[in-house]
Amino acid sequence: MKKYTSVKRPDPATVYDRENDTRSFGEIMKARISRRNTLRGSLGFAAVSMFAGAGISGCSDDDDGTTGSSAGASDNTLSFKSVQNNRADQIVIPEGYQYETIISWGTPLLAGAPTFDVSNTGAEQALQVGDGHDGMYLFPTQLDSGVLPFPSPVTDSALMCVNHEYTINELLHPNGVTRDGSGVRTEADEVRKEINAHGVSVIELMRSSGSWGVVSGGRNRRITAATPTTFSGPAAGSSFLQTKFSPDGTVGRGTVNNCGFGWTPWGTYLACEENIQGYLVDTSGSISDVKQRYGISANGFGYHWNQVAGDASEVDDEFARWDTAATGAMATDDYRNEANQFGYIVEIDPYDPSAAPVKRTAMGRFRHEGSMPGLIRTGQPIAFYMGDDARGEYCYKYVTSENWDPARVSELRGTMLDNGTLYVAKFNDDGTGSWLALDLDDPVTGPMLQNAGFTSQAEVCVFSRLAADAVGATTMDRPEWSAVGPNSGEVYYTLTNNTDRGDTDEEAVNAANPRPENAYGHIIKLREGNDSAAATSFNWDIFVFGGPSGGDPKYQDSNLSGLTLDNQFAGPDGLYFDHRGVLWIQTDNGGNKVATDTNDQMLAVIPANLTKANGAASVVTADNQAQIKRFFVGVPDCEVTGVFLSGDSKTLFLNIQHPGDGGSSANPKSSSSFPYDGSDRPRASTVVVTRTDGGDIAL
Ligand code: FEO
Ligand code: CA
Ligand code: CA
Repeated sequence: MKKYTSVKRPDPATVYDRENDTRSFGEIMKARISRRNTLRGSLGFAAVSMFAGAGISGCSDDDDGTTGSSAGASDNTLSFKSVQNNRADQIVIPEGYQYETIISWGTPLLAGAPTFDVSNTGAEQALQVGDGHDGMYLFPTQLDSGVLPFPSPVTDSALMCVNHEYTINELLHPNGVTRDGSGVRTEADEVRKEINAHGVSVIELMRSSGSWGVVSGGRNRRITAATPTTFSGPAAGSSFLQTKFSPDGTVGRGTVNNCGFGWTPWGTYLACEENIQGYLVDTSGSISDVKQRYGISANGFGYHWNQVAGDASEVDDEFARWDTAATGAMATDDYRNEANQFGYIVEIDPYDPSAAPVKRTAMGRFRHEGSMPGLIRTGQPIAFYMGDDARGEYCYKYVTSENWDPARVSELRGTMLDNGTLYVAKFNDDGTGSWLALDLDDPVTGPMLQNAGFTSQAEVCVFSRLAADAVGATTMDRPEWSAVGPNSGEVYYTLTNNTDRGDTDEEAVNAANPRPENAYGHIIKLREGNDSAAATSFNWDIFVFGGPSGGDPKYQDSNLSGLTLDNQFAGPDGLYFDHRGVLWIQTDNGGNKVATDTNDQMLAVIPANLTKANGAASVVTADNQAQIKRFFVGVPDCEVTGVFLSGDSKTLFLNIQHPGDGGSSANPKSSSSFPYDGSDRPRASTVVVTRTDGGDIAL
């Protein structure tokens, strides 16, 4: 029997005939827009029907940003003037703000770390801050009662966790990557340096005389693509995770491509493993359908870490393991299952530098983006909202079986991410939706999973994408980060882009993903039934469509939200609600009409204010788009990603990732030299923004 009958790509038989699609874009958009007009026309009723269980009594907790204890309702509007588009090699922030750059790639972190130099070795890189700064969260240096509140009470000191998503090897090494005449890598230490520049840093920070700096000491930590890890949850100890290094399938090495993030109320950091297929390859010449479904190919992103296998310095197959081709008789003889060890939510305890990162298999295996917790409420389960960033993949949530109870934190912290249910989202065209359990014991979806060939929950957790196919989830336009409104609990997902929608039956346009060529991306929001973390139904709407001001003749309906030069954006990616209800939107815009005007950026909007401006429809329309304001523009070829607002609202941290990505080893400064003003090659860095008058950020 062929397992996983739902393996859906690549399958030429399903190539979709867009010309003859009866569910045309225009019709679907018409249905969606008329639904929105209905909502606008009948305020009270609409609030009830759209977001059942919320707003019925007109109570203020269906808003974000108007009832928070940290900000008065009267001053809860964005107080800065939108900054201009910018293509120059400089950071742009609003008037009255200032910034400093801290913690660049290569900043010394651990004892014995040398000062940064591009010629640093692999071993030296393991003592320094990694490259490609991405998602991050700042924890207080002490955790009272073992419970982390929201907002995280950080003012002048912190334990910062920051992801290092990937490296640009042209810029990581003095002369790029060394290869032989056939293009094969020859320098093991270059590979080791790349492995050690990935992962996560835990950095103790302190502000002194107005400037933030690293506190040297035992709390700093580097977790790399080689650090020992453990597995927990249903797949731990299963045959799917067995390798030569881990015959019992309980341990592994390293984390890669950590993009989005999450946090827990017991004070841990969740690093998400995204594009694992960039590193884990299969050179066998015959790659299984299931591996292909996870994007595994012969060459990955060209890192080719496997090519230095057999080097005299190699320890425990540190390089060989990146090639997942079967070479031995059994799984415990080789690394055929190594790719099954990646693609998870990785829990890191910033307070215990000796604790192994834990890969939580119950939260599924896919190209994980955010894992943001929903509202944390005593006596209720906690939901974590997650995206799978690839064209036509899905939005997920994980719901704990146990109820949160701060009095039981020492016991719950070990189990809540193992005992729970993984759900995948189905978005109906009428604005309703459902969460489908990926659970073999579920009376409805269990038989569907069994019919698709799943025989254990371990298998469901390791091959979650295929499980989601089997239950009929909605294919989305590349789900990236999630964000949760601090008062309403509404969940927002960035859908960064998808110009291929409509190419296959599975990816036909639908109301939640209405553009057949979605070059500019959109943000969708949903509200759980009865505002419950464990809800299996929800209501949703599209919050905003990215697009260029003035539109793009190449694409239909390219500027549906009526954005202007003051707030045009493309490729929404990083997303974060601060505790006052300000939603921060960060971009990874790629090549398009917005990118011809501006480098990547960060914008802000207060969704609660849209409710006021636009009746019940708290979404961005041409009428109220001015409430989205551009706060920050980064440097050429960078992505602006990762954002954290201090508990006192006075300090904003964000990351400049891959600045000057277009530079070559011969000319590393050709597109950017950030943060050096022209004097040296660019380095990924954290930027700290404050107001010159010491006031609250953005309000
Ligand atoms: Fe790492 Fe999906 O952005
Ligand atoms: Ca990103
Ligand atoms: Ca992205």
